[in-house]
Amino acid sequence: MPPTSTGVHARDLHYEIANRVILDSLTLHVASGESVAITGPSGCGKSTLLSCLAGLTPPIRGTVTVDGYEVTALSPGRRAAVRLKTIGMVYQFGELLPELSPLENVALPALMAGAPAAETYAWAQVLLNDLGVASVAGTDSGSLSGGERQRVAVARALIGKPRVILADEPTGALDGETSDTVADLLFTLPATHDCALIVVTHNPDVASRADRELAMRDGRLHPAHEGNSAVRQR
Ligand SMILES: Nc1ncnc2c1ncn2[C@@H]1O[C@H](COP(=O)(O)OP(=O)(O)O)[C@@H](O)[C@H]1O
Ligand SMILES: [Mg+2]
Repeated sequence: MPPTSTGVHARDLHYEIANRVILDSLTLHVASGESVAITGPSGCGKSTLLSCLAGLTPPIRGTVTVDGYEVTALSPGRRAAVRLKTIGMVYQFGELLPELSPLENVALPALMAGAPAAETYAWAQVLLNDLGVASVAGTDSGSLSGGERQRVAVARALIGKPRVILADEPTGALDGETSDTVADLLFTLPATHDCALIVVTHNPDVASRADRELAMRDGRLHPAHEGNSAVRQR
């Protein structure tokens, strides 16, 4: 049995939409400091899985434990509080609020969680520096390039010092070179920020950077290269 005190652990997850089974007794363990890539055809349930792990979608059956909190056993209010404290999320388009500067976008989740403003803005600036986008901190969020926006989104995901980062096709909207840069950056996070990382991606180059590659099929996760050794040897 893996330790449950850190990382993210899903056991026996079951989820259906309109009588269609999306997650079927799915189990996943990702330790702190470890990265996992999840691939699979569009519509197979990858985003649903991340949503269950984040405590946004309660599964019909099964448990999710994040950093020792069994989120599936919590009330919606407690679940939201634990999510803010333990999880950072990155989406495909690095969605930022256009009314706020990049620095304000990064600080916002922590400010909403009640963190002191001066400290939060200082930490937000440190993260933007670390991610190589310090110079855009005070600019118009709407004018950022795709790569800049995604780096700011990664900084925002890190503002609460999360133990788990969930990224849903984080490079899906980026060109090849920018995709490489953002992927490089994401996969350094488990070591530099002592967190678990799960990246859903269609890009094999991005997936290959993970410690483990899993493929979603029939509502479960399988080793991505299972039965594929002839292809890999080519
Ligand atoms: N709110 C919803 N209402 C109805 N069907 C949905 C809803 N959300 C997702 N689905 C369906 O659930 C399945 C899994 O979706 P999703 O998890 O988004 O897949 P993926 O991220 O792998 O592309 C898809 O068939 C999708 O159409
Ligand atoms: Mg999806």
